[in-house]
This record gives sequence, structure tokens and C-alpha cells, in this order.
Amino acid sequence: MAETEDEGFADEKDQIEVDEAISLDSFDSTNSSTKSLSESVHEYIFENGRRYHAYYETDKNMMPTDEKEQDRLDMQHELMLALLDGKLHLSPLVEPQRILDIGCGTGIWAIDTADEYPAAEVIGTDLSPIQPKWVPPNCRFELDDAELPFTFKPNHFDFIHMRNVSQSISDWPNVLSEVYRCTAPGGYVELAESGSDIRCDDRTMAMDDSFKVNVDLVIKALDQIGRPPATDTILRERLEKAGFVDVTVVNTKQPLGPWPKNRRLKILGAMTLMGMEAAIEAHSLATLTRILHMDHEDVNEICRKSLEAARNRGIHMYSFHHVVYGRKPGEDE
Ligand SMILES: C[S@@+](CC[C@H](N)C(=O)[O-])C[C@H]1O[C@@H](n2cnc3c(N)ncnc32)[C@H](O)[C@@H]1O
Repeated sequence: MAETEDEGFADEKDQIEVDEAISLDSFDSTNSSTKSLSESVHEYIFENGRRYHAYYETDKNMMPTDEKEQDRLDMQHELMLALLDGKLHLSPLVEPQRILDIGCGTGIWAIDTADEYPAAEVIGTDLSPIQPKWVPPNCRFELDDAELPFTFKPNHFDFIHMRNVSQSISDWPNVLSEVYRCTAPGGYVELAESGSDIRCDDRTMAMDDSFKVNVDLVIKALDQIGRPPATDTILRERLEKAGFVDVTVVNTKQPLGPWPKNRRLKILGAMTLMGMEAAIEAHSLATLTRILHMDHEDVNEICRKSLEAARNRGIHMYSFHHVVYGRKPGEDE
């Protein structure tokens, strides 16, 4: 039995039941609006075999923006939908007219949302021009740095959505004060983040598990630059401090591999593992080489071992996907 932390296990009734019939062989998923922004928008850095946007500020975005990353984001969108049982958001929206998606990546959420709400205008913003040109007529994209003052009108949007951008933002209070200013009274903001707290309830994950070691290194690096990964508590506090009310937290278990017996969780785990190779590299390469000054070859080795551990069906790891939403009080409140 592997050495593990004694604390932090879920109660037995909350634990994910392991599929005992699963083969313990490793699973190989490969079988199966600003001036300065516009100046730097087509400048790239090629580093450690990946393409990053250069931007006007070093380390603005630590994730690559090449085709491999774009494919990863599109695949991850399907996983995010599956985690929310096919829903694009959990905020209780009623006939929204104006929707904003900040840090929209390839724009896939904004496009799907425009299809879902054909009467709404949906705008996606991002630092990188990686969105398609052919989009629904009620959807458009703008290049924008979320950390600069918003150019949108106050009290404008019925819904503002931000997904998996926690690692990219340095000053959350500032960004969320702008989000609050531009949300219509009674409108909603929703923050969705894949948690980085790696858990295991049956001691199959060792303290020195390579996957966890890698995640902990990335967290250490992000902590150093003041961008700690988001937890549900942090997300709730951010929204409440910004002035949003009725803040609601929904945490969904996300198995890291197809080890659960339950069919839904098994599919979620398999989907997570499928995107793992690209995800591990995207999250680790720039953070560990640029911030912790680790050697590229050493980081490659960490990524390789980390993927090997993730593919080990005998290790029952999971994390949480957090969705936290809140409402801007109405004018009469
Ligand atoms: C991990 S991706 C998530 C993309 C998308 N939200 C999704 O869930 O598919 C993070 C995105 O945030 C963008 N980003 C990072 N910093 C940003 C900033 N300061 N302003 C706007 N977008 C930013 C990146 O360019 C990248 O496309």
C-alpha cells in the first residue's frame, strides 16, 4: 500500500466506487481593445517546441497558443460540458440579451452560447486572436486584455462568464470590479475553474506520486508570481468581495482516469485522461522553465513521469471542477 496523507479523505459515502474489473495496465489515451495589445498580437515566442504569444508584458500568458493548445481547449470544452451534464453554465439566466465571455480562448463556449441564445448578443474577448471567422451572426470576438479598464458600458451585460482563466489573471479584485461595473443589475457572473487539489480516498496515490509532484511544482511556480490556483473558497470570496450576492458554489468530482465503476464518472475520467498529455505540457512547460528556472529536459522528464502516473489505472486520483456564480443586486435592492 502506498504511503499517503491521512487527512483529506472524503467520507466513505462520498467516495467514488472503484471499478474492480478495470485492468491495471496503463491506459494509453494516444491510442484511442487596447493599443499595446494590437501592436504585439502577432508576435510569437517559440520556446521548448511550443508557440506562445509574446505580448507587451513578459509572462502575461504562460500557456501556449499554438494549434496543439487550440485543439486541447476545444476538447476540454466537451469535457466541461460533460461535467455540467451538457449545460453551458449554471447561473439561472432568463432570456439574456447581452453575454460576455472573458478569456474566451478558441471561442468555442461563446459560439455554443450564441447558438443556445439566438436572441442574445455574445461577445468573446481574449489576448490572442485564435477564434474562428465563421461564427453565428449573434457572436463576435474582440482582442482585449481583461486586466485593463473595460471599454464596455456600465450595467451592460446580463451574463459574464470566465472559465479556466485563474492562472492568467494577476489582479482579481481589479478585474472583478470591472466585471461588476459592466454587469446589469440583476445579471450574473460565473467563474468556472478546474481545481488543482489532487485527491485520492483509498491510499492508492503515494505522497511522491509523479502526477501530484508535477501539479505541486506548477502551484509553487504560480504562487511565486501571485497567481495561486483557484479553490471554491477563493472563488466565492472573490465574487462576494466584488459585491455579488447569492453566491452559489457547485463542485463536481472529476476523476483523473477511467477507474470509477460508475459509468458517468468513468466517461468523465476517460475524457480527462485523453486531454492529459497536452494539458500537462501546457501547464508545466513555461511555468517550470520560466519561473522556477528548471531545465527543459528535466521538465520533459517530469511531464513524462506525470503522464505515466495519470495513466496508471491502479491510482485512483480525482480533483474538483468548481463553478461559482453570483448575482449583481437589482436596482431596488
Ligand atoms: C486556459 S485558456 C481558457 C479558454 C476558454 N475560457 C475555455 O475555457 O476554453 C485561458 C485563456 O485566457 C486568455 N487570457 C490570458 N490572460 C488574459 C487576459 N489578461 N485578458 C484576456 N484573456 C486572457 C488566454 O489567451 C487563453 O486563451
